[in-house]
Amino acid sequence: MKLYLDTANVEEIRELSWLIDGVTTNPSLVAREKRPFHDVLREICAIVRGPVSAEAVALDREGMVREARELAKVAANVVVKIPLTVAGLQAVQVLSREEVRTNVTLVFSANQALLAAKCGATYVSPFVGRIDDAGGDGMALVEEILNVYGQYDFGTEVIVASVRHPGHVLQAALLGAHIATVPYGVLKKLFGHPLTDAGIAQFLKDWQRVPQS
Ligand code: E4P
Repeated sequence: MKLYLDTANVEEIRELSWLIDGVTTNPSLVAREKRPFHDVLREICAIVRGPVSAEAVALDREGMVREARELAKVAANVVVKIPLTVAGLQAVQVLSREEVRTNVTLVFSANQALLAAKCGATYVSPFVGRIDDAGGDGMALVEEILNVYGQYDFGTEVIVASVRHPGHVLQAALLGAHIATVPYGVLKKLFGHPLTDAGIAQFLKDWQRVPQS
């Protein structure tokens, strides 16, 4: 499973660039940086070789296509995020013919994911955390989408998004999701285990008893 970092913060991206396969941003994450969007995007794309998702904010088809073309010019690894609406999927169809890669975002049902794949989306992003927050089962949706895609020859990959905790990452990997996009704080938690720390402490303590020459 590929791991993307879900952030627009260049320090976080730089720190974990040796590990991550890509980056996803959204308008809320970009707003936290208080810098012009294209400057931030250009900097992220120079740090990360893999795909970097940048979201279009227009709501009409022509506006989204225009914005996507501009974003795609910023760097070769830009993927344009398009929300799952009728206009959004029409834009995805146009962009897929132009070989502009798209990440269809705000996906909350398997039928939506099916439509996105049929329109040529490169990626779909089901938002598992937001579904869980609303009392649903976000990972059940990921399982459904993977089952649907498994029946056909779609090239669309599933990005498990809106990840809230390490359990989501593990569940995504167990289900065989292509990608999980993970916030910095959650990704850092994946490294740690109290028994690893205790094991190191014990080994170092015992090492003191080894004669040095
Ligand atoms: C990534 O593509 C999504 O925009 C992001 O994971 C949404 O996360 P949130 O639900 O925590 O805002």
